[in-house]
Amino acid sequence: MLASKRILLIIGGGIAAYKSLDLIRRLKERGASVTPVLTRAGAEFVTPLSVSALAGETVHTDLFDLTTEAEMGHIQLSRSADLVVVAPATADLMGKMAGGLANDLASTLLMATDTPVLLAPAMNVRMWQHAATQRNITTLKKDGIGFVGPNDGDMACGEFGPGRMAEPLEIVAAVEAALGDGPLKGRRILVTSGPTHEPIDPVRYIANRSSGAQGAAIGRALAALGAEVVFVTGPADVPPPEGVQVIRVESAADMQDAVDAALPVDAAVFAAAVADWRVATASQSKLKKSKGALPDLKLKENPDILAGVAQMKKGRPKLVVGFAAETDDVAANATAKRKRKGCDWIVANDVSPETGIMGGAENAVVLITGDGAEDWPRMTKHDVAKQLADRIAKALGPAL
Ligand code: C5P
Repeated sequence: MLASKRILLIIGGGIAAYKSLDLIRRLKERGASVTPVLTRAGAEFVTPLSVSALAGETVHTDLFDLTTEAEMGHIQLSRSADLVVVAPATADLMGKMAGGLANDLASTLLMATDTPVLLAPAMNVRMWQHAATQRNITTLKKDGIGFVGPNDGDMACGEFGPGRMAEPLEIVAAVEAALGDGPLKGRRILVTSGPTHEPIDPVRYIANRSSGAQGAAIGRALAALGAEVVFVTGPADVPPPEGVQVIRVESAADMQDAVDAALPVDAAVFAAAVADWRVATASQSKLKKSKGALPDLKLKENPDILAGVAQMKKGRPKLVVGFAAETDDVAANATAKRKRKGCDWIVANDVSPETGIMGGAENAVVLITGDGAEDWPRMTKHDVAKQLADRIAKALGPAL
């Protein structure tokens, strides 16, 4: 809920501006008030009338509008909100922000504000990938600016790739996380999720079964408690949570790199079903099938990502949580695994086919901590995630 939260929404010039109309509705439904600012380019895509009608407030459109300036100066406007949201955030607006330019109302507000800023970028793939845009993003992140999206997908310009603005509900989730006063506010938590794919050749791979449902639910539950979540996911069946930083990977080696890059974190939850082995030398071309001859696949052990982080000598997360998918002697095997890996907790579950847990909506887990084994009743993966997030919040305590 966003009851009595004040959002200053800057709508930049891009086709995704139409989604910002829905965003206004969604924010208001949750009790927020929305003060809209429409850039000159934004007004080419949505009309000031529709924006102000949906927001129920005057739309601010130009820095040198003397009437507005007399009613509410731009400095006052920039500080009137709990959060400034820019959606769509264009390459131009981000460039101005990174360079410290203030030559129209939107860029001036962004320079003058002392409240947190959340950007929902939207632009053509090539513009997103351009070195200048990427450089600006790095600068803005260093300046403490928050980001949601962009997503991969079909774009209005007919191209495909990163650059699509996050959906309104994803932006709402990021707003809630940014404004949330949950017990994990100020905490950065890493979650790994989904399977990894280990290539045999360009078309074949080795993988574990994993829908990614439990990992996604955990990412969502942690973000709902106010954590900044870095979600590293292999090719899962279910979509990643909204409003978190999503890093997509394929293989265990990619996952290891993404985890290393995400550190340091306050806590790390390893829910991914990482393949134990990879093919030592994956073929660059498709292996041909020939009668009676089997491919000579040499396997190599993958790095144990969880064990690596759990046994870090310096900068170890305060809390490291592993998972154990077992088919028998669940508690005993998981207790041994906790010791072997060096993690603080293990969330163990019985994945025998008759339990219907693998790929299903429910889970029955045993939480192994230093104090012993706790049997949790069978419940939805969503509820397991909520309970686990609550326990993590208790274990970490309030951020300093
Ligand atoms: O050894 P096992 O695969 O049963 O361990 C499961 C736990 O270890 C999970 O938390 C999983 O995410 C993590 N793991 C890992 N890297 C691996 C293998 C498992 O992080 N290579």
